[in-house]
Amino acid sequence: DTAALLAVLRRAPVVPVLIIDRLEDAVPLGTALVKGGLPALEVTLRTPAALDAIRAMSAIPGGVVGAGTVLDRAQARAAVEAGAKFLVSPGATPDLLDAAIEFGVPLLPGVATASEAMIARDKGYRVVKFFPAGPAGGPKYLQALASPLGDMVFCPTGGVSLDNATDYLKLKNVVCVGGSWVAPSDAVKAGDWARVEQLAREAAAIAV
Ligand code: 3PG
Repeated sequence: DTAALLAVLRRAPVVPVLIIDRLEDAVPLGTALVKGGLPALEVTLRTPAALDAIRAMSAIPGGVVGAGTVLDRAQARAAVEAGAKFLVSPGATPDLLDAAIEFGVPLLPGVATASEAMIARDKGYRVVKFFPAGPAGGPKYLQALASPLGDMVFCPTGGVSLDNATDYLKLKNVVCVGGSWVAPSDAVKAGDWARVEQLAREAAAIAV
């Protein structure tokens, strides 16, 4: 439901988007991000390790672990069974929108146009992901949706970085941003958790 989703997303300005190749990286990576001040963690279902990573990371104190790149009902079910507390999708099929409601798990469906946002809105969704935020039109585009879609808020993701996050976060229809920049693949490969924690700290401190 909307309130549960907003409670998670409002805890920090940035939701880390994570691609976890090695299961053993999951807990130290998540711990570094939570310690740095980013409690909501989106583990994308793009690797064979993802579901086990969600299971393992659910034990991290202070963290709220969700699944990203949820493309269909079966993946949504698998993510919920693995312990995902929220779901994120690059898009929004009618069946996925229905499934999340049936499963009682908050879903952040992806939209890039007014019509897509309205399809989600028809099913009761008021909080959606704006994806891919940069290529789809950036802050100006999203700002243009604020007045006509006045009861919806967005989490822009895709091309967001420390440099442009503020341009989104200052919009009144933005609740948080998502991004992978806080967990760069080279840092994860090297097990450089201090760097990840530092990147999280910078992201958590973004002032609007
Ligand atoms: C993705 O598709 O991986 C996410 O939307 C994150 O995008 P980013 O890598 O541009 O932050």
